[in-house]
This record gives sequence, structure tokens and C-alpha cells, in this order.
Amino acid sequence: MMTRLGFGLILLLAVLATEVWTQNPPPGFVTTECLGNLMMIMLDKSFLVGKHFRIDIIDVKGTPVSISPRLATQCGYSLTIDFLGNVRFLASVLSCFIQNTNDETYRLAVLIRVSPNDDMSLASSYTQTMTCVYSQWAAREILCERNYMEVSVRRGIPLIDSKVSRDEPDWANIYPEATAADNAIWQVVFHLAQNKKKEMTVAQAMLSGYGINTTPTRIMLRAAYNATETRPQLIQTVPMAVLRSTTFYKQRWMVLMVDTAIACPTDGTSFTDEMIVWRVPRVIPPLVPTTPLTSLNVQMGIDGRKLDPTTVNNRRYVLDVGPELITIKIPVGADGGYYKSNVLNNTYAISYSIAPMLEHTWQDVDEKTKHTILHPITTPLMPRPPFVINNTVPKDRVFNVTLGIFLPDVDLVDVTFGLETLTVPEANLKGYNIQEHVFPNGSKTYTLQVPFEDPDVKKEVTPPDTRTYILPLTYLLNIVPENKPFTHHAEVQASVQDIILPTVTGYCDVAGFYVLVQYGNMGRNWIPYVGSRELGGSLLALYKYNVNSTNFWITMPYNAIDATYEVIKSSEIRSRLDLTLKDIETMLVLTSFSLSCSFPTKMIDCFSNGTMAALAVKVESVPGLLPNQLTLRDPSCRPLQSDAVRAVFYFNVNSCGTTRRFDNNLLTYENEVLSTTFGPSYRLSIVCHYVVNDTKVVQFSYQNNPALVIQPGLGDLVVVMRLALDSTYKDFYGTQDYPVVKYLRTPLYFEVELLYSRDPQAELFLENCWATYSADRDSLPKWDVVVDSCENSADTYKTVFHPVSSNARVVFPSHLKRFEVKMFSFTRDRTALKGQIYFHCGVVICDANRQSDSLCRRQCIPGKQRLGRSVEGKAEVAVKALVSSGPIRLEQYGFYPSEVKTTQAVLWSPLVATLVCAVVLFISGIVAFIHIQKHI
Ligand SMILES: *[C@@H]1O[C@H](CO)[C@@H](O)[C@H](O)[C@H]1NC(C)=O
Ligand SMILES: *[C@@H]1O[C@H](CO)[C@@H](O)[C@H](O)[C@H]1NC(C)=O
Ligand SMILES: *[C@@H]1O[C@H](CO)[C@@H](O)[C@H](O)[C@H]1NC(C)=O
Repeated sequence: MMTRLGFGLILLLAVLATEVWTQNPPPGFVTTECLGNLMMIMLDKSFLVGKHFRIDIIDVKGTPVSISPRLATQCGYSLTIDFLGNVRFLASVLSCFIQNTNDETYRLAVLIRVSPNDDMSLASSYTQTMTCVYSQWAAREILCERNYMEVSVRRGIPLIDSKVSRDEPDWANIYPEATAADNAIWQVVFHLAQNKKKEMTVAQAMLSGYGINTTPTRIMLRAAYNATETRPQLIQTVPMAVLRSTTFYKQRWMVLMVDTAIACPTDGTSFTDEMIVWRVPRVIPPLVPTTPLTSLNVQMGIDGRKLDPTTVNNRRYVLDVGPELITIKIPVGADGGYYKSNVLNNTYAISYSIAPMLEHTWQDVDEKTKHTILHPITTPLMPRPPFVINNTVPKDRVFNVTLGIFLPDVDLVDVTFGLETLTVPEANLKGYNIQEHVFPNGSKTYTLQVPFEDPDVKKEVTPPDTRTYILPLTYLLNIVPENKPFTHHAEVQASVQDIILPTVTGYCDVAGFYVLVQYGNMGRNWIPYVGSRELGGSLLALYKYNVNSTNFWITMPYNAIDATYEVIKSSEIRSRLDLTLKDIETMLVLTSFSLSCSFPTKMIDCFSNGTMAALAVKVESVPGLLPNQLTLRDPSCRPLQSDAVRAVFYFNVNSCGTTRRFDNNLLTYENEVLSTTFGPSYRLSIVCHYVVNDTKVVQFSYQNNPALVIQPGLGDLVVVMRLALDSTYKDFYGTQDYPVVKYLRTPLYFEVELLYSRDPQAELFLENCWATYSADRDSLPKWDVVVDSCENSADTYKTVFHPVSSNARVVFPSHLKRFEVKMFSFTRDRTALKGQIYFHCGVVICDANRQSDSLCRRQCIPGKQRLGRSVEGKAEVAVKALVSSGPIRLEQYGFYPSEVKTTQAVLWSPLVATLVCAVVLFISGIVAFIHIQKHI
């Protein structure tokens, strides 16, 4: 039972598989059109997308016949698919399997199958029939289709060609077979080169690929362009395929021969960038044995459809009929044709295709021939490299890139951004927004957007503040339906001034520099340097390096080793901090910053004891200087201390080549710091001014090297006047002993000393000494005790000078002077004035070796004040000072003094004298002579 059931099933399946169940095509899928002697069936592409299709011819018995390319050529069919995918199926009205009624009405039936699969399984099948009428046959009609040449000739007509008549002896030989045939062709004779012939029976010709047929009124021969018996031939420079043949047939009791020659152009096209030119010979000798020939009608068309002259004009086609050639010109890109994409050397290229048709009807002798050529033309490939338009607006920080222009048959498959390849949906998922933009004519572009901050975007820095964003793109595109991929590479760039450079700011206080470095927006891609040293290691602590994520700051003393002394000016040093930021990779300087400030600095110390201290520093203008090689004028006087930038000198004014000068009441010592190695380029003048009064003298001393100018130091000379207890000058009255009380005529032992100085060459002299009644040394009355370094000659009791010798207390005797006077009192109107008196001295300090000035070489008392001084050189001014004693009070004995010496002196100045005169003149009766007396 099982077997029988199985058998039944198989049978049923077999029936289902072979049975063709057809239906009418869906609306819009199939259209038909009669094009004269051609019948056209078109299938719309939209029903065929992604599908496979087949067209079979249904013969008169209703059986589908599948059509191979060879059968199509032999039977008169052609099939083309245009650039959009629409299918055009053309059949000659004389093609096989057509139902031909009296050569007037033709009925074609086809089976159309559409399947999602290559093997046509699960196909939908549709039957389409069409009927055309074509009855205006010319005596001879030649059709040149893309894959075949066809000729049909009215039976019995035309007359046999005279050349063909020479075949008559052969005709006799084959006569027996002709008698056997009935109303049929039995032989075709092909005329080959050098008058050779080739005879074929119908069966043989069909086997060789020829199509041969008779219809109610005509005889038809169809051949492939490459059939063995065709010959290529140049006619008016146009290459043509020529087949010359005579067809023998018997019609009832007549045996007839028909000239079935065919000639079709195989080329004749030429191209320029703008124009397609197609030439066809007007007279084709193999078809026209006798000339002249009259062209009755020449008409052009496109895709098998004839066009009226207006359309030809509108489309800027040109149809020109010359005596030798018929020329058709079609501008590249004109309506009626189409562009198609292609790939040439991996770059995009396009071609333009158009299928012009030429129908030429002529008359020779008395018969008409209609010669129809369908001649599809495709231009050579024209490269159309895609272009990339960078529409990026840098401030938006998004790349906006357009790629174009492509024909509709191009698809974008994927894009490689840098190293990352993404399909279009993947890229859009990442936000790159790939879009297709289609123009009205069907061509299209693609746009995409990639943010600058995307990892696929490369960045390059152009100093100082510009960043260039670079996006390398590789587009992979594909041409459909042929599936021809190609790539296009582009690199788009955008530059933005968006770098915030590190900034350095700073200020100075009295001690040094304070510097703040802010990083900017590129992070810390640099190394900081102070001076010539990298800011790192031990320098971090040294300069109090402080850091956070956006900045760092340092504090550097003005005299740090990494600072540079620019110049030394009077009482300040100008010091500079150089800070540079160098690129971490290239070591190029990104930012350089200098902060230069003046710092008040005491460069010279002048001590009262005659010690001078000087600071010498290395300056920028003498770069190689070694401070420890600096010396004073005396090269053996070297720095007490030194480091890389500084040298400190301590020396006595009496040593190291120091010179001494008395000038404008100043005692001036001078020396210089010199470099033996660098010669005059380093010369620092060191000057100490010593003053004894309150006048502050500020004086700059300019020397050879103007860069190094320091304010002279100022020192004090201290001169004191003391009262000794006795002539030994060992003990003195102390501050607490004043006022000292003395009896009249008691000797007073004064000593005047230049204190502290350790300059043995300085010598102190008394110039004038006097006593006053009040503490004011300029007050009146006054009494001179030393005048111009001499005793007051007017005095009864002359002043006595005492020599000074060295002892434990007196190191430099020249610094001291001693004199003795007797205690006295002032009187007025012979009355001794009670109270205190004060002693004052004006002193001079001279150079002990150079007694050249007048003050220091008074002749009066050289033996006492300045023994053995020589007179030499030019006049110099000594330093003068004033000193005073404390008050000394006269102790009264209680009796009127017996002896009074009176000296009358009017000591007023002229102004005072004038005033007194005025008093004398205007205040009558008052005579005001004031007697100033010294009462002893
Ligand atoms: C003509 O061309 C077709 C297709 O190229 C080929 O199959 C056929 O063999 C050729 N015929 C001859 C006779 O060369
Ligand atoms: C990209 O550039 C095109 C052309 O300038 C412009 O029309 C479009 O708006 C731009 N797209 C974006 C996102 O900026
Ligand atoms: C001079 O005085 C200074 C400061 O008081 C001192 O440093 C120096 O040693 C003294 N010089 C001499 C030679 O006493």
C-alpha cells in the first residue's frame, strides 16, 4: 500500500512541476508597441528589482520555446536592458513562431516568468500577446538589428541580377531537385570572394545559423553579422558586413531565383567630447547593382521609433543626407540617450548610450528598397573623478563634506574614517549623518558630518595658536546592477585658531620674582626652563614650586643663581628672570617670558674705622666672568667670598691701591674691582665718601664702564673734643661731670681727636678755636684762642699746644691735637659775666703725605701743630669739621677781680653793623658800644 501511495505522490508532483499556470501580467508591468516591421514588448524595472526573469515564445501550438542567443539571432529577436533596468524585447514581424496572416497581421505570444531565484523556481508566469499590422512592404526590406541582419524580398521580384545570371549552368544541374520541391526554397547560393560560390540546402543553411523562410508573399533570409559567409567590407569608409546570396525556390510550376543580398554597417561612429557622429553610405553597391539611385525617404529615429523633423530639431540631432554619406550627429547627453556609470582604473567614469535608427527608402530601376538600421552607440568611457567639497564652517567644529556627483546607478557602500571602516548605517548610528541628495536629473551626492573632536580626526598644531583638523576619508562605492566597486580617497582639513597658549605672568617684590604659569588648553605639553636650567629636581624646592591642574607658580630671589643681572645702577641691581616653555617633543620654544626688576641693594659699606666692603656681581654684558677671579686695583686683593655670580671684598682704605681725596668737605676713598681676564669690560668703581657734618652728599662717580655704576658709600668721620684732668692726658671728664667747674686762670687741657679711623695717613689739625658765652658756637660774645692754626697773638695768656705721642690709647697720633688755655670769664661793663663758657674748634683733616693745601700748611705754628711738614703739589681742600666742648663754669672767689684785660672788638657782620648804625642814627641818645672782654 505504501508503494502505491508513494508512486501516486511523485506523479502528482511531476504534473505540478511541468504544468505552466499562467495569468495576465499585473497592470504596468508589460507594455507592447508596434514599430513598423518590429514588435516591442517592454517590462517595467520596478517589477524586476532583485528578481530573475525569462521570456519564452509561445508557438502556434501554445508550447513555450525558450530562446538562446543563437536562436534569437536566427529567429529575429533581440533583448536589451536599459540603464534603469527596463527590459526591451524586439521581434521582427518575420521572426519565428509569429502567427502571420497574409503578411499583414502578426500575432506574437510570449510567456514571461519572474522568479526570485536564479533557477527560475517559484516563478510567477504571465502570458502576453500582441498583434501588429504591417502591410506597406517595399519590394525589398533590409533590417539591421543589433544581433542579426534580415532581408525579405517580394516573391518573384526582383529580377535576377545579370551577374547572378551567369550561374545558369549550375541551375540546370540542380533542376532535378527543384522539380521535387513544392512551393519551397531548396537552395541558397552564397557568393563569396573571387567569384566563389557556396551552395547550401535549406537544412544546411539552418544548421549554419541562417534563418530562411517563406511567407505568403515573401522570401526571407536572416544571418548573424559574423556568419561564415559574410564579408567585412569598407563602403565609403564605413565598415559593413556584406552577405551576397541568391535563393532558389519553386513556386508551383516555376523555378525562381531571388537576390537576397544583405549589407549592414558594423560601425561608422566617431566621437568628440561633445558629439557622436554616425555615418552610413547612401549607396551600398552590393545592394544596388545599377546606379543612379533615388533616395525616396530618409528618416531617423531612436529606440526603433521614427522621429518627426521637429523632434529631431528639438533634440539638436542632425540628419544630413549627402551624395555619398548619410550623417547623423547627436550631441553627447542629448535627450533619447542615457548615461551609465563605469569604472576606469579604479576611478569613476561614465559613458553615454543612445540607440539611433536610420530608415532609408530608395528606388533603383523600378523597385523600392527599405533599409532600416538599428544602431546602438555607446561613447568611450569619460572619466568623471568624484570631487569632494569641504563645506566645513570651522567655528561649528564639525566637518561637513560633500562627495559627488554620481549617476543614479551608484551606491555608497561604506566609508573609512581614518582607520575605521563603517557601512552607511553604522556610520549613521555613530552620528556621522550620511545622506544622499538626489538632483532632479537623477544624479546624486553624498554628505556626511564628523565632529572635530572625533577620535578619527587627526590634529596638527601650527604655532602659535592654530590647530588643523584632518579627516582622511575613503569612500567605497558600487555600480549597480553590474556590481563594479571603486573607491575614492580624500583628506579634508579645517584650521581653527583655538589654541589657548600657556600664559606667564609675574611681579616683583623687594626680594625677588613671583611667576605664575597658566597652562592654556593644550595641557602640559612643554617643559619649563628658568634661565638655562630645566625647572625640576632640586630647583622645585629652591624656588617654592607650587602646582595644581591648571597652573604652577614659583618664587625666585632676585639674586638666585638662575637670575641674570642686567645692570648695576647706583643703589640698585636690575635682575631678570627668564622663563621659557619648550615643546616636549620638538624642544622648540613655545612661550618665553622675562621679568626684569630693580632691587635696591647696598653695594658698598663704608665703616667709620676705614674699612670698605664692596659687592661685585656678574652682569649679562660680560657673560663669561668668573667672580672669584676679580680683584681690586692691587691684584693681590681678592674677594673674601665669592660664588658663581658674586664676589665680596673687604679692605682697608690704606691698602689695595685705594686712593684718598679731599674734596668739597668730603674725604673720599676710591678703588676699583677689575677683571684681569676680561680687561676693561669689567670695571666697577668703589667710592666711599666720609663726611663730618650733617650735609648728605650724594654723588655718583662715573668710570670707564658705564654699565657698572654704583652709588658711593657714605661713611661718618667722628671728631670729638675732650677735656683732660691734667697735662698727662690720661683721664678725661665724663659726660656726667659737665658743667666742669674751674677757678679763674686754672689751665684747661683740651684734646681733639678723629675717632675710629684706622687710616694712618689722615691727620687732624686745629684751624680755629674759640670760646663763647652760650652753647651756640656762633653766638657773641666770643674769644679766639687759636686763629689760623696759631695762638691768638692778642692774648696775654697764649694758648699752648702739646705734642701727641702714641701709647695704648693713641694708635694714630696724627689723629689727635692737644692744647691748653687758662680759664677766663667774659665781662660786660667791667663786670665779669657769671655762668658757663663753651669751647669750640674748627678742625681740618688732611692727607698726612700730601700737605699741599693752604689749610694744612699754615706757617704760624708748624713746629707745634705740624712739625716737619713739607710743602708740595697743588692746593687741595681739606675736610673741615667743627667740635665743641661741654660747658665749663667759673668758680667765683667772692672778690672782684684785680686784673682785667680788655679787648674791644666789634664782631658784627656788616649787616649787623648797618642795623647798629641805624639804631645810632634813629634812636637818639643811646650809644650802644658793646665791649667784649676776656676777663682773667
Ligand atoms: C558568432 O558570434 C557568436 C557570439 O559571439 C558565436 O557564438 C558564434 O560561434 C559566432 N559564429 C561564427 C560563425 O563565428
Ligand atoms: C553642510 O554644507 C551644506 C552646503 O554648504 C549646507 O547646505 C548644510 O546645511 C551643511 N550642513 C551642516 C550640518 O552644517
Ligand atoms: C671696622 O668695622 C667693621 C664694622 O664694625 C668691622 O667689621 C671691621 O672688622 C673693622 N675693621 C677693623 C680693621 O677693625
